[in-house]
Amino acid sequence: MEIDKTESRIPLHKLEKQILSVLREKDGLNFADIGAKAQIKVDQVRRAIEWLKTKGLVNEQRINESIIELLEAGKSASRNGLPERRLLNFLRERGGKAELTEISSKVLSSDEASAAIGISRASKWIEVKKENGHAFVHLKGEPLATPEEELISTLSSPRRLATLTNKERMAYSSLAKRPGFILEVASKEVKIKLTKEGQSILIEEGSGINVTAPPPIIYSGRKHPLQNFMDEVKEIFVSLGFEEIVGPLVQSAFWNFDALFTPQDHPAREIQDTFYLRDSTIASPASPDLLDTVASVHQNGGATGSRGWGYKWNKDLTSRVVMRTHTTAVTVKYLADKTPEEARVFSVGRVFRNEKVTFKNLVEFHQIEGITVGSRVTLRDIMGLLSKFYERLGLKRVKFWPSFFPYTEPSLQSMVYNEKLSKWVELCGMGIFRPEVTRPLGVKNPVLAWGGGLERLVMLRYGLDDVRYLYENDLEWLRSVPLCP
Ligand code: PHE
Repeated sequence: MEIDKTESRIPLHKLEKQILSVLREKDGLNFADIGAKAQIKVDQVRRAIEWLKTKGLVNEQRINESIIELLEAGKSASRNGLPERRLLNFLRERGGKAELTEISSKVLSSDEASAAIGISRASKWIEVKKENGHAFVHLKGEPLATPEEELISTLSSPRRLATLTNKERMAYSSLAKRPGFILEVASKEVKIKLTKEGQSILIEEGSGINVTAPPPIIYSGRKHPLQNFMDEVKEIFVSLGFEEIVGPLVQSAFWNFDALFTPQDHPAREIQDTFYLRDSTIASPASPDLLDTVASVHQNGGATGSRGWGYKWNKDLTSRVVMRTHTTAVTVKYLADKTPEEARVFSVGRVFRNEKVTFKNLVEFHQIEGITVGSRVTLRDIMGLLSKFYERLGLKRVKFWPSFFPYTEPSLQSMVYNEKLSKWVELCGMGIFRPEVTRPLGVKNPVLAWGGGLERLVMLRYGLDDVRYLYENDLEWLRSVPLCP
């Protein structure tokens, strides 16, 4: 199964969470910016960035950049004005005219003065005239703030060259020609970028749990729906006053067939319907007395008053070992062992049939089986009991239909209406055990018996149309089946 990274939990420190949140708002910040936004100290930012890097949540990008900053002359110009501006101011204060020697001694240093006069003359802000052998400077016009002045006013702290406008760039190159004003320095900028995981990882907010975050789904261990259903079936029978019995999966042919008055040439006993265990036999599946009695019942009805099947019964065939084909082998053995006058027992278990696997047939499946023994029990009781059982499972449209089994008389079949498939489905065989079954065992009272497939009921419950699905172990389906229908 693929694991969704956003759902997997990487434990994060509080600082890491703060930084991730800041970067989600604006990616690609440097340490100082992150510190300012997250309100944490820069060295804490550095430390947390190291953790985030090892977790693969952020990357560092190193960018080479040029930074410009003011030198001494530039700083003084930002406080007092550029030399040319100071010259023009002085001239204005003097009524528009001053002697050149006065300017270079009182107002500006001689270096400043020559630069200021050069620039101002070139810009036609001033004129220099000789009068009586003395040089005088005349004010001709005063400019508003120059691009150089504007640039200087933005440089109270260093700026990245890349952030300058075109106009500022031109001002920068003219200022750069004048010694001592401005400096370009190469700097390495480190920017922090979120990785894909960093963008998608879940950040729990605050002190603990983000109650709106989708939680990872935890699939706890649970019973298979079939086992769950089996437990439900058992509970229903127990609540109806029945006791559970169990029996072996491997049986002698005697208990699976002969004791149930199933003739030895019955098609169900053929190798293509029943799995026989090769090379094994059960020497004496029953007492010699019982074997004799069953022999005569099969051949001529024995003491039951019926005519039997009228064939030569072969004792050797009873020793063959079969995988039980129905759980009726369990209830009939119970009758033989206990010879009860009253009883209500049931059994749920696996059975085996050598059949082709299809959407409705499996080679191994489960049956629910039961008997009621009592002096006054009738066919109506069995119909009532099974109607009750189906009702408890939520199946309301049930009907009973005549049927045939070698061991019951009369015999019925129960059918239930499948709403989804809009058709009647066979569920259970039932009837009253024939005297040919009960007399040889010494059971005097009538025995109501029924038995049927469990998987069919499970299919109805979960709306499945292929019984094989129950054994496919499709995790998605298994997890989706509700525990309480
Ligand atoms: N054993 C039968 C079957 O496998 C069901 C059955 C049980 C019928 C008991 C009658 C009595 O289909």
